[in-house]
Amino acid sequence: MKIITVVGARPNFMKVAPIHKVFQRYKKNIIHLICHTGQHYDANMSDIFFKQLGLPAPDFFLGVGSGSHAEQTGKIMIEFEKLVHSEKPDLIIVVGDVNSTIACALTAQKLHIKVAHIEAGLRSYDRNMPEEINRILTDAISDYLFVTEKSGMVNLRKEGISKEKIFFVGNCMIDSLVSILPLAKSSKILEELGLNKGKFILVTMHRPSNVDSEQRLSGLVKMLNSLSLHRKIAFPIHPRTRKNLGKFGLLDKLNENILLTEPIGYIDFIHLLEKSELILTDSGGIQEESTYLGTQCITLRASTERPSTVREGTNQLIGEEFAKAEKAVIKVIKGKKKTGSIPELWDGKAAERICKILALKAN
Ligand code: UD1
Repeated sequence: MKIITVVGARPNFMKVAPIHKVFQRYKKNIIHLICHTGQHYDANMSDIFFKQLGLPAPDFFLGVGSGSHAEQTGKIMIEFEKLVHSEKPDLIIVVGDVNSTIACALTAQKLHIKVAHIEAGLRSYDRNMPEEINRILTDAISDYLFVTEKSGMVNLRKEGISKEKIFFVGNCMIDSLVSILPLAKSSKILEELGLNKGKFILVTMHRPSNVDSEQRLSGLVKMLNSLSLHRKIAFPIHPRTRKNLGKFGLLDKLNENILLTEPIGYIDFIHLLEKSELILTDSGGIQEESTYLGTQCITLRASTERPSTVREGTNQLIGEEFAKAEKAVIKVIKGKKKTGSIPELWDGKAAERICKILALKAN
């Protein structure tokens, strides 16, 4: 059986690394190849993750790069179709909810190649998010749907997807987190940035709804400046956010207690997340990683597709108002912490379950 797994953007790499590792045990029956679409192409958004996660260089690189949604999705489809024709895989694996996910799932299905979707079933119920559209469409056309949390099972059944296709297996992103933790312990990033354990706020912000308009971004800058009077802030900055801060003349409005850095590699980032007093974010994956680590997480969004991090974990979904987010951060600093537990099957073994299921199908 020949399987091609697709990666495109930063959050995909940690989901695929454990899958690739486990497939090495099935080498007799399964050839596992990796295709990188090139959606993310900067060294610190892509290469560093391959290195740190122990992923081999991708077998195929489509070099698609940035563009509007239609341009990016379309280019990926055109290039991926050529690859499917020449490689004739038996199965395609896609992960998460980025444009590369839907582009390759759709291409493969039209060529009658089976598709497995890892991280299926998550729903924010906000169709303004490009990821929500990618999630709904990918799930609708996948043959094997691997679900990370219980809400995903309910969502998929509501959409009429048959039980036989759905597998509750846990979270591959947590597999990678579990395996990187020993290495993260020796990270020197706190010393490099001059931060004290448990006494700084970590910030990541990159959703179009938070960083694409001048009004939202200047609100963010104002809030961060105000919070930086209480604590140092580490702010590894996504290319989209940096570009827009520059465009709106806001880069030099951030005060000096805010450490702006380039995007940070996986090992150092996980160390920062573990040692921060709290994280303020709009990321999806970080809501899960902070829940696993027990780090306080304030999510600056109106909805989450990962409700178990709120119901069971340390995540607080605060909405989109900066004033509310600021209040929530101050509360945490004053000691009002949310206690949490780790959701079911987030045990570092999700990839083993997925590969076992797919290998059975191969026989
Ligand atoms: C994408 C995903 C989002 C995910 C995020 C993680 C979609 C629809 N969105 O958003 O779900 O949370 O990745 O980072 O797929 N850029 C660079 N260098 C890079 C990559 C991007 O400079 O290596 C810049 C480009 O100017 C590009 C912009 O960032 O236009 C946005 O990149 P894109 O891949 O379109 O979306 P993200 O915002 O990264």
